[in-house]
Amino acid sequence: MALFSRVFEYLDLPVEIADPAHPVRVDPADVRGEVRFERVGFTYADGHRAALTDVDVAVAAGTTLALVGETGSGKSTLASLVARLNDPTTGRVTIDGVDVRDMRLTDLARVVGVVSQETYLLHGTIRENLRHAKPDATDDEMVEAARRAQLHDVIAGLPAGYDTVVGARGHRFSGGEKQRLAIARTLLRDPRVLVLDEATSALDNQTERAVQAALDEAARGRTTITIAHRLSTVRDADLIAVLDAGRVVEQGSHDELVAAGGRYDRLVGSAERAVELVG
Ligand SMILES: Nc1ncnc2c1ncn2[C@@H]1O[C@H](COP(=O)(O)OP(=O)(O)OP(=O)(O)O)[C@@H](O)[C@H]1O
Ligand SMILES: [Mg+2]
Repeated sequence: MALFSRVFEYLDLPVEIADPAHPVRVDPADVRGEVRFERVGFTYADGHRAALTDVDVAVAAGTTLALVGETGSGKSTLASLVARLNDPTTGRVTIDGVDVRDMRLTDLARVVGVVSQETYLLHGTIRENLRHAKPDATDDEMVEAARRAQLHDVIAGLPAGYDTVVGARGHRFSGGEKQRLAIARTLLRDPRVLVLDEATSALDNQTERAVQAALDEAARGRTTITIAHRLSTVRDADLIAVLDAGRVVEQGSHDELVAAGGRYDRLVGSAERAVELVG
């Protein structure tokens, strides 16, 4: 399992997906990061109905797409297609016009970063866990990434600092700290396209703010596809797509969708009322 975790973490890809026979040449350093979902449909192998149907969404390079919708509406499934954690059953996903299935897996892994609800920690030091994302990273680069991910102060406060052993038999990071470690790794890897599938698990207020600051930092200057649970994050997205039973039923900016008075407006209305009730 540890070995599998390493492979998964390194590539952010499942091993059963193969390299294309005739890959399209892509220089990860030159990718702008325009992501398009074109008539995408997806059915899980053991699924009795389609998880996604006819999804058409275009995300301009450097902008943010927020996916919203009820539990089970297909948000994580849609996001999973960008890094080829799944491949569409119909239609295609492109980055700068190139079908992601036509890219070499090592190129795709450099272009697309995923911060998901699951984070793998290697049994080893924090330094090793970070360096894993970029084997030739200098200590300065690592500390800078940890700082931007709001994790440096936590690490600096541990007796052995960056040499602290983490994982099953080592220091236990909290959920929010693990998430920030995943963000620090992503910052080191510096992908053009970032997929953020935020954990729904409750974080305390201070951790929540730290994670949010780290996520904002990670998203800056990249094409970001985010599954956010905070209204503030969704509201700021350049484009919002509302999913319902695997279909995009609405897309547009926050203002456009509120003005349209449809599904999104009702979701926001109930979220705001909930905030009023709580706060
Ligand atoms: N590995 C899987 N195998 C079979 N069906 C799956 C699998 N993962 C998800 N599904 C199904 O696909 C549909 C979409 O699930 P998905 O996880 O994409 O929803 P989601 O919008 O991310 O939900 P949540 O808000 O709870 O995270 C659901 O009907 C779900 O039951
Ligand atoms: Mg999900």
